[in-house]
Amino acid sequence: RISSVSLRRVLDSRGNATVEADVLTDAGGFGRAAAPSGASTGEFEAIELPAQEAIANAREHAVPRLVDTVYAGDQRAVDNALRAADGTDDFSEIGANSAVAISMAAAKAGADTLGAPLYQHLGGAFRGDNFPIPLGNVVGGGEHAKDATDIQEFLSAPVGAPSVEEAVFANAAVHAAIGDIFDERDIGAGKGDEGAWAPPIDDEEAFEIVDEAVSQVADEVGFEIKFGLDMAAAEMYENGAYQYSDGEKSTDEQIEYVADLVEEYDLAYVEDPLDENDYEAFAELTEQVGDQTLICGDDLFVTNVSRLQDGIDANAANSILIKPNQIGSLSDTFDAIELAVENGYETIISHRSGETEDTTIAHLAVATDADYIKTGTVAGERTAKLNELIRIADDAV
Ligand code: PGA
Ligand code: ZN
Repeated sequence: RISSVSLRRVLDSRGNATVEADVLTDAGGFGRAAAPSGASTGEFEAIELPAQEAIANAREHAVPRLVDTVYAGDQRAVDNALRAADGTDDFSEIGANSAVAISMAAAKAGADTLGAPLYQHLGGAFRGDNFPIPLGNVVGGGEHAKDATDIQEFLSAPVGAPSVEEAVFANAAVHAAIGDIFDERDIGAGKGDEGAWAPPIDDEEAFEIVDEAVSQVADEVGFEIKFGLDMAAAEMYENGAYQYSDGEKSTDEQIEYVADLVEEYDLAYVEDPLDENDYEAFAELTEQVGDQTLICGDDLFVTNVSRLQDGIDANAANSILIKPNQIGSLSDTFDAIELAVENGYETIISHRSGETEDTTIAHLAVATDADYIKTGTVAGERTAKLNELIRIADDAV
């Protein structure tokens, strides 16, 4: 059983405070996890409280319900206790940041008690042996960098990589190749919150450069690399239209624009191409190009089974981004993954733009046989997950 839960404030990659949890068990198990944090958060996400407040509230309400009561390996019991302690639908009392940190730390303590790696504990003995393809953010702007592209993320997608390791290095090579092209063109680019290049260029030039870098690296490595986008379109949607630096697009124009991009660049992936409230427009785009590319809901679904069910009913997409902190517990996260898989949706396990060295999502992606993992390319808090993925594939965790 859980013998103690300690909570503290630690730094995230943006320099903000986030919640870290340590869970200990009677049997000597130990687990530690930290909550990530979004910048382009969805309207329907569970609520992140200021770290100090989340910690104080979780100490008062959640910790007493866990200690000496619940087994760390019994994830449903842990997460039910968190839900009961909170008493709201969106973790606004104890904070989704406290909830997710405790939920993940308990899973790690449960795994440690059993002497199993986390992916094995979460995935079980009948887990498949597929590895997720890493989607690597290489160029971006939006809410993650000022004076850069309108589109939030351009993502390298090494779809033909023979191994996780080669896929991880291919994404790093694409990031480097883009840096070289910027040098040649005399473009001075900074970096955004996730370590992607944040160049002062328009989207059209970014498409051209990413396309060139991806083909160059694909030639070098000898397997297929495509690319994709996170448009985070809810952030652009204002006054009934999508706001770009060079003017606005109506919903119909946005659908046509995205469908044309899918054709022109053979995009592997398009996340949040439309506003988070517009299931209908999502469905229209999915009908047009859903057999050629992944249309993925992030802000649309927020890892929430009821929003996902609405999307399934509306044929709104064909894939879902999974972020445990959007919903606040691993049990809820697993429920969303299960519903997605049952309905033929592909799953993409994802980091947030604010991260720590925590590697839980690498284990979650392997445990659930996810199709993709989106966890950046070269920044340290991103390589923490990518390197853990390489270790898991090498059976070295
Ligand atoms: P966020 O961005 O973590 O700032 O929400 C990542 C994403 O939109 O996928
Ligand atoms: Zn997104």
